[in-house]
Amino acid sequence: MDRPVKRPRLDRMLDGLPLPMQNKVTKVLENVALVAEIRDPKVGMGMLPSAYRGLWQRKGKGDDAVLMRSGHPVHFDLNYGSDFPEMYDLYRRAVANQWDGEWQLDWSTQVDPMNPEIPLLGDTPFVPFDVLEKHGIKLDAQQRQTLSHHFASWMLSQFMHGEQGALYASAQCTESVKWVDAKLYGATQVMDEGRHLEVFLRYLETKLERMYKVNDNLFVIIDDLLTDSRWDIKFLGMQIMVEGLALGAFSTMYNQTREPLLKNLLRYVIQDEARHVHYGVLALREHISKELSDAERREREDWAFEVAMLMRNRFFAHEIYEEWFEHKLSRRQWNEIIANSPAMTKFRSIMFQRLVPNLEYIGLLSDRMRSYYDKAGLLAYAGGKNASQLSEQDLLRDNDAMAAKALAQEKAAA
Ligand SMILES: [Fe+2]
Ligand SMILES: [Fe+2]
Repeated sequence: MDRPVKRPRLDRMLDGLPLPMQNKVTKVLENVALVAEIRDPKVGMGMLPSAYRGLWQRKGKGDDAVLMRSGHPVHFDLNYGSDFPEMYDLYRRAVANQWDGEWQLDWSTQVDPMNPEIPLLGDTPFVPFDVLEKHGIKLDAQQRQTLSHHFASWMLSQFMHGEQGALYASAQCTESVKWVDAKLYGATQVMDEGRHLEVFLRYLETKLERMYKVNDNLFVIIDDLLTDSRWDIKFLGMQIMVEGLALGAFSTMYNQTREPLLKNLLRYVIQDEARHVHYGVLALREHISKELSDAERREREDWAFEVAMLMRNRFFAHEIYEEWFEHKLSRRQWNEIIANSPAMTKFRSIMFQRLVPNLEYIGLLSDRMRSYYDKAGLLAYAGGKNASQLSEQDLLRDNDAMAAKALAQEKAAA
């Protein structure tokens, strides 16, 4: 006979409370855990102001705008020399590959988010219906379709907020970076991110007719890197971490969606994002290997690891939970459902498949860090192709086999 699994004491204590109270306590614990989970106290302290604004003050949930103070230095060049030929090549490629979202996407496409024949997110739901049923929540066909519509809108809304962050981060990096060739390239990225913001916004407004506020944890990461005055932290955060996450998310969605306009839109965006990550790894590899002291490099290693952990553990679509299930499921149950959902697991795997080789390439996966990545089950992703080696086809391909292998290793490590 199976022995009953002993649940943590805190969980058993919470079970005795009414659901709204349970959720309040869980939410506070989650917020405290965000900082407590951070292994490196220096990184934790650095993130505290953003965590305060994002999780306690919930600035991202306001109605108007949030003002973020940056304080980064602007590097005004006086030499105008050709100083980074690889970057200049990337700039030329970016200029040649500009596209216009107005004319190159077919906005006359009829999109019906309630049509089960053309699923926006493919056939594997992010919220598994069979697991919901085990918790006593039975959704009929109409409700399932509505939930899928809402979930797709939530995801695309987060992409859009990320694009707005990328727009400002790339503008800040363009000012701060010291190579003129990188400034030229940066200008093309600012244009790219503006266009990405435009097309996601237009798709949400005119096709899905639904939009969600920025996720609190995404807000914390964006706020943290936009307000950090060190350009290489902005670069690392936006070009490697957030763009890595975006590439993973975009390619997962690109492979799964059967809606042609969304597929086409994502294909264009992925091509640009691949260049952005490439830019990030070129600039950071140069900077980290030649200009940082050992102590400064270690600080970047720790920061990148903590942000990777936040990205792995913290995207639980609480906005959907609050809208749909707050009175039916506890927040802890929801977190568990999403963490183990097959679509979400695959999405995470593809994200780390992109991210870890890039960290390795730029020199932030030292022997000291390998043990941490190993414990987190993420070392399996090392040795893969980094952004400077990936072709557009690699990025558009569905890497199911690699994802499955890495997931098995991740589980074994856990
Ligand atoms: Fe973008
Ligand atoms: Fe980007």
